[in-house]
Amino acid sequence: MTVPTLLVTAESALTVEADVLVLGVAKTEDGPRLLSDDPALAELAVLLPAIGVTGAQDELRRVPAMVAATESIALIGVGNADVTAHDLRYAAGSATRQLRGVESIVFGLPTTTAEETLAVLEGAALGAYAFTAYRSASLESTKSPATTVTVAGPGGEEQIERATIVARAVHTVRDLVNTPPLDLYPETLAARAVALGESAGLSVDVLAEDELREGGFGGILGVGMGSSRGPRLVKVSYSPPNASRHLALVGKGITFDTGGLSLKPPASMIGMKYDMTGAATVLAVTLAAAQLRLDLRITAWLCLAENMPSGTAMRPGDVIRIRGGKTVEVLNTDAEGRLVMADGLVAASEEEPDAIIDVATLTGAALIALGNRYVGTMGDTALVESVVDAGNRVGETLWPMPIPSDVRPMLASDIADIANIKPGNTAAGMLIAAAFLRDFIGTTGEEKRPIPWAHLDIAGPANNGAAGWGFTGKGPTGVAVRALIELAEDLAHR
Ligand code: BES
Ligand code: ZN
Ligand code: ZN
Repeated sequence: MTVPTLLVTAESALTVEADVLVLGVAKTEDGPRLLSDDPALAELAVLLPAIGVTGAQDELRRVPAMVAATESIALIGVGNADVTAHDLRYAAGSATRQLRGVESIVFGLPTTTAEETLAVLEGAALGAYAFTAYRSASLESTKSPATTVTVAGPGGEEQIERATIVARAVHTVRDLVNTPPLDLYPETLAARAVALGESAGLSVDVLAEDELREGGFGGILGVGMGSSRGPRLVKVSYSPPNASRHLALVGKGITFDTGGLSLKPPASMIGMKYDMTGAATVLAVTLAAAQLRLDLRITAWLCLAENMPSGTAMRPGDVIRIRGGKTVEVLNTDAEGRLVMADGLVAASEEEPDAIIDVATLTGAALIALGNRYVGTMGDTALVESVVDAGNRVGETLWPMPIPSDVRPMLASDIADIANIKPGNTAAGMLIAAAFLRDFIGTTGEEKRPIPWAHLDIAGPANNGAAGWGFTGKGPTGVAVRALIELAEDLAHR
């Protein structure tokens, strides 16, 4: 994974030497408007309609640069004319995503504040992503994104550092998720977490099967039972000395989800390497928090297993015992995420953190309900609101969803404390899964208040199967990483 080298300059973008100069075009009622009043560009501004430029989002047109220190100018649409930081992030990311085989890019977008410069830096770094580890070298070079990005505008080192850390976090998720399940399984994902965590000064504990058995982690063990590659629970701790609050993050880390004995049909199994996105997300957020030196204690729990059908696999009808003692009747082995998450949520609760946020590609129902761009967000109203709000500030769309009171009774089991599904039911799958998870949230303090909890079902937006948009290419998106970094910052400053 590489994040481009980021630079900020107070000079005019037209004087910076680079391969391509990126300028913005707004879409207005009077036609396209070049977002630069540099007199040297007056001629180009008039030509826009003639070359078919409209200023629509994601529209990129390259023209020869007669007036700048670059070879070519790329015109990127920013949408409507009252440009926000979100529009700038989107446009910059769309430009670097689409400009391939180009080494250096300079941005001359209308940035008037350091915050807007940050948005351009961040978008540009996020768009400049490629996963080439499994491609032959000859193909690789033509697809390479820019390695140097210069942004003309106010700001400097602080914005550069932040954008680099945030983009690195998002790209870490994308890299881990892209890695095929042949190579990425619980043991190797745990090893990656150890390597990444230690390089950021975090402490990382890995519980292998014997320790999981001793600890009573029946959910993770049960799901992992069908695979020759055993499950793991990884605890990543960031404990800065001045932290007064403690955030626990729990991530679903199914390195491949076949459905187990409740086997998925072939078409639904494609893409199930994505089922560890939650674990990658909570890891990346913790790494970023450490690199940003936030005054917040964070403990991330990565619940790792491979869900395989085999002679040793868990059967529909088996009863497993989650850490802490609650029993679950497993009626469908494809509803495995909630089983590994139950162990993670109990373990997280034992430390009585100030809040628990879990992230999981939990249900196909999330995709049906909210599509590919909205994260279903459930749990305690106030915490859900804070996460949704943090998302809004960084341009990530999270959407509050309810846990209706009629849902938990559907999970009544004939012989255990709870069942993992209601057979035959197709309604409200995302909400039922949330109700299941809620049973495993612990309490805190003498009055035994439930620990504030929010659940993010990222099954829809974790993966972009469609064409690219903004800084998001095809494949894993790294959704929720930026929202959670923003939330962690809120908690650190409170
Ligand atoms: N990993 C899937 C959820 C999923 C589906 C994520 C599609 C991304 C895209 C999860 O483990 C699962 O299979 N859930 C079942 C639950 C059902 C058996 C109650 C589902 O959603 O069909
Ligand atoms: Zn499943
Ligand atoms: Zn799954």
